[in-house]
Amino acid sequence: MFSAPSRAAQYSGQWVLNAQGYPTVLPVSIPFCVSSLAEMATAYSGRKMPPMPYDEKRKRYKIKDLQSEGFLLVSAESVDRPIVDGDGRIIGVVRPPPSQEYRADVDEAKKLMAEVGGKLVVGDDDYSHPRGSGYISINTGISHGQGTQKPARSNHGANSAAVAQLLESKSMQHLARYQSDSLRLYYPKCYQLYKDALDILMAKHPELASRNFADSIFPKSAFNLGGNAWSHKHVDSKNFPFGWCCITSLGDFSHVTGGHLILWDLGLILELPAGYSASILSALIIHSNIPTSEEGDIRYSFVQYFPGEIMRYVDNGCLTDRGFRKKGKKLQERQVAARQRHRRGYDYLADADTLIIRKK
Ligand SMILES: [Fe+2]
Repeated sequence: MFSAPSRAAQYSGQWVLNAQGYPTVLPVSIPFCVSSLAEMATAYSGRKMPPMPYDEKRKRYKIKDLQSEGFLLVSAESVDRPIVDGDGRIIGVVRPPPSQEYRADVDEAKKLMAEVGGKLVVGDDDYSHPRGSGYISINTGISHGQGTQKPARSNHGANSAAVAQLLESKSMQHLARYQSDSLRLYYPKCYQLYKDALDILMAKHPELASRNFADSIFPKSAFNLGGNAWSHKHVDSKNFPFGWCCITSLGDFSHVTGGHLILWDLGLILELPAGYSASILSALIIHSNIPTSEEGDIRYSFVQYFPGEIMRYVDNGCLTDRGFRKKGKKLQERQVAARQRHRRGYDYLADADTLIIRKK
C-alpha cells in the first residue's frame, strides 16, 4: 500500500534541542500532505468514510502485516512526537505523561473508569457501536444538530450520576486539561477558535450551565470503558474538520503488542501506552486501533472533540441555518466564506520550524 520508507526517512525526524541543548521533541516526518484530505471536507463536516467491506473495517489488524505493507511503527518516547507532514506542518502529536503527578492521575482515572464501567445501566446493544464493539462508549457534553433548535447537554438518564462522577473527578479533569493544553501548544490557532466558539456559546446559553471540564476548550468527551476499548477503521466526519481531537489511552496492557493508533492515510502506527495522548485530525484521517492481545490486558480511552455542528451554530451567530435564513441573511454566502476561513485554519497548522522556539 505504501512504499516502504527508507531507513533515512524513518529517522529523518531530528531531535529538537532546547536552549540548554537537551532534547525536547522527536518529530516524525512523513511525505504525505494532509491538504489533499482537507479538500474532501465542507465547512463543518469531514470526509466521508469510503465504502469498504464490513470485515475489512472490523478486522484485528496486526502490526507486522501493516509493516510489511510499508507502515511505519512510531515508538512512544519520553518526549513529544509531533507528526510533520510533507508541507512541513505539524498535523498531530503524541505526548507522554508530563509528570509523576499526572501519572498518578492516569492511574486514578483508570480505576474510576473501571468502577464506572462496572455499574452502568446498559443493554447488550450498548456494547456495539459505529466505532467499535465489546466495550461501552459514553459520549457526553454539548451537542447540536439532528433537528435540535439549539445546543443541549447530553442526558444520560439512569447513568447520569455515573457520568457526573467521571466529569467531577480531579484525575479526569487533569487529563482533560492536558489534552486542551496540547492543542494550545501545538495548534494554537485551533485552540483559540475552539475557545472563542465555546465562550460565545456558553455566554449565549447560560442554561447549558457548565462545560464538561472547566479548563478544557472541548465541548464533548467520550469515555470508552466497560471492556477492552479498540476502535474499528473509521473517520469522525461529524467533528470539526480542520481541528484536532485528543485521545488518551488508559489501562493495563502491553503497548508493544496492542493499543496502537493506526493512521491509515499517513501509513503510521503510533504506540500509545497508558497515559500517553495523541492529537489527530480525526475528521480527515481514517484511524483505528490495534486491539490489545496479551492475557489480562485491559484498555480504556478518554477522548475530547469539537462537533462541527456546534461551530456551524456559532458561525450563524448562535442560530440554526433555518433561523439564519429567517433573518433574511444569505446562508450560502456565509457558508462559503466560513469554509474558506476554516480551510485557512488548516493553513494555520504550525510550521515545524517553530518547534524549537515554542519548546524552549
Ligand atoms: Fe475516532
